[in-house]
Amino acid sequence: LQIFSGNANRPLAKEIASHLNINLGRAMVGRFKNGESRVKLEENVRGSDVFVIQPTCTPVNEHLMELLLLIDALRRASAARVTAVMPYYGYAKQEKKTTGREPISAKLVANLIRTAGAHRVLTMDLHAPAIEGFFDIPVDHLQAGPLLAEYIRDLNLPKPVVVSPDAGGVGRANSFRERIGAALAIIAKQRPQPDVAEVLEMVGDVEGRTAIIVDDMISTGGTLAEAARSLKERGALAVHACATHGIFAGDATSIIEKSMLVETIVTNTIPLPPNCEGARIRVMSVA
Ligand code: R5P
Repeated sequence: LQIFSGNANRPLAKEIASHLNINLGRAMVGRFKNGESRVKLEENVRGSDVFVIQPTCTPVNEHLMELLLLIDALRRASAARVTAVMPYYGYAKQEKKTTGREPISAKLVANLIRTAGAHRVLTMDLHAPAIEGFFDIPVDHLQAGPLLAEYIRDLNLPKPVVVSPDAGGVGRANSFRERIGAALAIIAKQRPQPDVAEVLEMVGDVEGRTAIIVDDMISTGGTLAEAARSLKERGALAVHACATHGIFAGDATSIIEKSMLVETIVTNTIPLPPNCEGARIRVMSVA
């Protein structure tokens, strides 16, 4: 068994390798002067069962290309089996056409990974679970819910209520609620424009309760900040948030810092951006 990593999340790859008591495989993953990605494996992989750890987080295109080149190099160097480990699957939000004349980017990414030569994919909390079906190779779809729920359960928060910040997240919030033994509330969210979130309505009783918002990802931070504001307005005692993927795009960490959230818990599928010390973010390891 060998593990290789691109540049997307080397600390996570190293942590996984250390759990397995092996070293990360040696490979050069860089750039040519013209900007093209460049990969060279620096050890023998013939006949090996190889795992490439590379979330396709920002800069997404660069990290995706590194992943594809690593898979291609491994296949050409006669690795017996190649598993693409994508703790975060970029382009997952574009899993269907919302208007005419749009691509289905998540499907294209699946095709590229297959064409590069992956035998198997391991991923976590896909934004749309149907993406698993875009592959005609096995997909291991893991969840961070149990890890995050264990942390929240140990806090023994008074009168907890798990909140789904949108209709699409109800299933995820409900299984989290079952794990910690809490009530459930659901927010109806609308996006008046891309990347702007507004709370339309809320179902469930949050007054006098500790709210825990559960989401799959934090991008601009707008969904969480707006949900926390609305929960406090409706009488929640305090608001915590849990999400698997902390993308923290643009000024998301300062939006979280200024929000009413007591603590935001994410995993290390994606490395945290720099300078977010004030944002009360806790990172749990999925290694
Ligand atoms: C939406 O469907 C997702 O589950 C997240 O709620 C969303 O991606 C969060 O985005 P943002 O942080 O930009 O509001």
